[in-house]
Amino acid sequence: MTVRRSSAAGVCWTLLMGCVFAAHAVTFEVMDGNSTCIKADLNASFSITYNTTNGTRVAGFALPSSASVGNGSSCGGREVPPELLVSFGAGHALALVFSSDGRLYRVANLSLQYNLSDTSTFPQSSGTGLVTVMTNVSDITARLNSTYRCVSSTTVSLSAGVSITLSDVRMEAYMNGANLSTDESVCSADLPVTTAAPTQSPRTTAAPSPTPPPAPERGNYTLTNGNGTACLLALMGLQLNVTHLSKSLNKTVSEVVNLRPNRTTASGSCGVELATLVLTEELTNLTFTFALNSTTRKFYLSAVNVSAFWPDMTDRFAEGNASLDLLQCSVGRSYMCSAQQTLTVLPTFSINTFRLQLQPFNITANRFSAAEECRMDQENMLIPIIVGAALAGLVLIVLIAYLIGRKRTHAGYQTI
Ligand SMILES: *[C@@H]1O[C@H](CO)[C@@H](O)[C@H](O)[C@H]1NC(C)=O
Ligand SMILES: *[C@@H]1O[C@H](CO)[C@@H](O)[C@H](O)[C@H]1NC(C)=O
Ligand SMILES: *[C@@H]1O[C@H](CO)[C@@H](O)[C@H](O)[C@H]1NC(C)=O
Ligand SMILES: *[C@@H]1O[C@H](CO)[C@@H](O)[C@H](O)[C@H]1NC(C)=O
Ligand SMILES: *[C@@H]1O[C@H](CO)[C@@H](O)[C@H](O)[C@H]1NC(C)=O
Ligand SMILES: *[C@@H]1O[C@H](CO)[C@@H](O)[C@H](O)[C@H]1NC(C)=O
Ligand SMILES: *[C@@H]1O[C@H](CO)[C@@H](O)[C@H](O)[C@H]1NC(C)=O
Ligand SMILES: *[C@@H]1O[C@H](CO)[C@@H](O)[C@H](O)[C@H]1NC(C)=O
Ligand SMILES: *[C@@H]1O[C@H](CO)[C@@H](O)[C@H](O)[C@H]1NC(C)=O
Ligand SMILES: *[C@@H]1O[C@H](CO)[C@@H](O)[C@H](O)[C@H]1NC(C)=O
Ligand SMILES: *[C@@H]1O[C@H](CO)[C@@H](O)[C@H](O)[C@H]1NC(C)=O
Ligand SMILES: *[C@@H]1O[C@H](CO)[C@@H](O)[C@H](O)[C@H]1NC(C)=O
Repeated sequence: MTVRRSSAAGVCWTLLMGCVFAAHAVTFEVMDGNSTCIKADLNASFSITYNTTNGTRVAGFALPSSASVGNGSSCGGREVPPELLVSFGAGHALALVFSSDGRLYRVANLSLQYNLSDTSTFPQSSGTGLVTVMTNVSDITARLNSTYRCVSSTTVSLSAGVSITLSDVRMEAYMNGANLSTDESVCSADLPVTTAAPTQSPRTTAAPSPTPPPAPERGNYTLTNGNGTACLLALMGLQLNVTHLSKSLNKTVSEVVNLRPNRTTASGSCGVELATLVLTEELTNLTFTFALNSTTRKFYLSAVNVSAFWPDMTDRFAEGNASLDLLQCSVGRSYMCSAQQTLTVLPTFSINTFRLQLQPFNITANRFSAAEECRMDQENMLIPIIVGAALAGLVLIVLIAYLIGRKRTHAGYQTI
């Protein structure tokens, strides 16, 4: 058995604590002689709660583009199921064991091995050595001779506090050829949400509306430590503005889409100097990275990554910018901006925020600390003050003029 691995232009935003988000999927291939039996193209990120000497912490990291097919991978045989084992970092491994009933194949076991001795991934861990967690409950099922496709993110929980989020998955086991089958088994999360009644005539694909959508609803996103205390709080309405090639119009358009809070899940990790908030909607994945500058005692939004595959997009839009310096605020405070604000991430991607308040560090008692308002809010507050002051001044002038006038008339009476 031989193994092969190729990386499709993996991009890894290396920040203070290593890989936070891999924007491009990595391809893995398991071969027996010259024939390929498993091929997988996927993105994975992990969230692992672990014990430290003084509490629990959550490590969040993505499958790096340096991950490779490891020993233990096999095309299987009698009594032995096919397995893809992906090794990465200092002794970490993700393993997928397949099974088939002659019509369908599925991931029968999904397991993760992680190395608590790797202090760069698990700082201050009280435990050491390898930990293996697994589940045999997974939704990854496809027809034989078809490629399993799941562009949407799906999170699989392996044990309390350990979960894997897979996205951009194109994978096939029990292959007959060297390439992924063109026939696809699409996961339910990727299927379009159809609400049309059966009596309705089929609708043509809607082009993005030229008028911007209404202001988005305000979402309440909270991350908690292992022990249930909040470590990141965010209240905000988000509107994404992506410039892409429209499938229906065959030209570049700026499509503006609101994030719907009740269909969005928040995940991520809290650290001492770095915190990430991952917002996942059906077709959209948004990652905010907040960093803390210990010199200036300020935190700021340092990176934003987006991965979106909306119905009118010709291709998936997966981009990011890790050299941002937005939403600056003093440590121990929360950042607030009630007015609409635009965060420009890239020339082709911006985020409009509405009624925003957030705090990624130093939260006490599960509540926002005192707020620092953005300049726009301060200016908005200044206008009523200026108008009020001007009105008060005017009243005063009128009053003085009246009093002077009254005194004059009095004086007039006296002289008569
Ligand atoms: C693999 O392919 C090469 C060339 O295509 C051939 O020479 C070799 O015999 C093949 N090996 C097996 C095990 O089929
Ligand atoms: C953390 O420690 C507690 C108590 O010692 C233990 O019950 C728990 O399983 C540990 N959690 C992990 C993730 O090791
Ligand atoms: C845990 O200990 C480390 C190092 O001693 C310290 O930096 C960190 O703030 C402590 N965390 C808590 C929650 O006390
Ligand atoms: C929960 O853990 C965090 C850090 O891990 C610590 O700061 C906090 O005091 C803990 N809270 C409780 C109630 O144990
Ligand atoms: C676990 O990590 C430690 C520290 O990086 C390393 O020395 C050790 O070899 C790793 N274990 C395995 C099985 O790779
Ligand atoms: C899959 O393809 C192989 C070879 O083309 C064929 O022998 C097999 O019957 C197919 N299986 C199914 C379930 O279609
Ligand atoms: C999956 O794991 C379970 C529990 O360890 C085991 O009983 C089962 O045989 C495994 N299945 C496969 C296909 O490896
Ligand atoms: C979306 O972005 C485009 C290009 O940057 C800009 O012209 C347009 O005004 C933006 N629309 C909204 C609603 O922010
Ligand atoms: C889209 O437009 C380009 C040039 O504007 C043209 O070459 C191409 O054929 C068009 N594609 C479709 C599907 O209409
Ligand atoms: C989400 O909220 C909207 C507006 O409040 C509502 O119409 C919709 O039914 C909700 N969807 C879900 C899945 O709860
Ligand atoms: C912190 O801010 C100072 C002043 O703006 C800057 O010089 C320094 O490079 C920053 N440090 C980090 C780690 O970003
Ligand atoms: C990323 O953001 C920085 C700061 O706004 C900007 O200077 C830079 O051009 C952006 N990168 C790209 C690729 O647009």
